[in-house]
Amino acid sequence: MDFNTIISEFKNGITTITINRPTKLNALNKETIKELHYAFKAADTDSKTRVILVTGSGEKAFVAGADISEFSSFDVKEGLKLAAKGHKTLFDFVENLSTPVIAAVNGFALGGGLELAMACHFRVASTNAKMGLPEVSLGVIPGYGGTQRLPQLVGKGRAMEMIMTAGMITADQALDYGLVNHVVTQEELIPFCEGIAKKIMNNSPKAIGEAIKSINAGFKSGVNGYKKEIKGFGKCFGTEDFTEGTTAFLEKRKANFTGN
Ligand code: COA
Repeated sequence: MDFNTIISEFKNGITTITINRPTKLNALNKETIKELHYAFKAADTDSKTRVILVTGSGEKAFVAGADISEFSSFDVKEGLKLAAKGHKTLFDFVENLSTPVIAAVNGFALGGGLELAMACHFRVASTNAKMGLPEVSLGVIPGYGGTQRLPQLVGKGRAMEMIMTAGMITADQALDYGLVNHVVTQEELIPFCEGIAKKIMNNSPKAIGEAIKSINAGFKSGVNGYKKEIKGFGKCFGTEDFTEGTTAFLEKRKANFTGN
């Protein structure tokens, strides 16, 4: 599929999705959200893709938020629809993929940009990155999961302060808060993420998919994460990856996982 606002490239088991509207600091418009949905879906269903990286084009921004020009004239009904659709097509969608998704935060990650990074399974930032949820400065609240995922990642008090002040934090503060796992220079960002991806690719895609489901279950209301873990654990015993992983260990060789 041809995309206008993103680039999706596959190399060595990794699909890298780059949001490509640098003149608008990669702000997420309707078309970008739709294209991201298709690109993530295609990468997740492609058995050759073992890890997905998402980043922004240019040196300034990961994503500077949802495209403000698109929703500034919306009414209540349209506002509700915008958030609900965004959750379904992109943010919840990414969080629940069984292929690991790493956000390579290469600059501003604001509003919907930080919400996208938070929907990814984990985040690595470059030293110049700045993160925040500035929505209340526009008279609105974060609507793509920010009020839920930010407190999960940084704690309630820090999330309250970040959202109420609409301020930005630096990459080092984000590291201190646990919002990102690592901070590296902008030049090192993609190679560093590829290095993590390489380690992930040594392991069973089937088991990783089950682990993601189980971890996510613990953050969903009305779902018992422990029960999900027991079920997922049991399911793994019926996979080829389990047979291969345990056999390889006993035969003292490296496992060759197929993801089946
Ligand atoms: N939606 C739409 N356009 C955006 C955007 C957004 N979220 N963020 C940046 N842009 C556009 C600007 O309008 C500008 O476009 P123009 O050149 O056609 O005027 C272009 O991107 C460059 O942004 P600019 O503001 O000139 O860059 P800057 O370096 O002076 O400031 C920011 C960078 C990130 C501080 C600033 O762009 C900003 O505050 N953006 C909005 C952040 C936000 O509130 N996000 C949450 C949205 S819910």
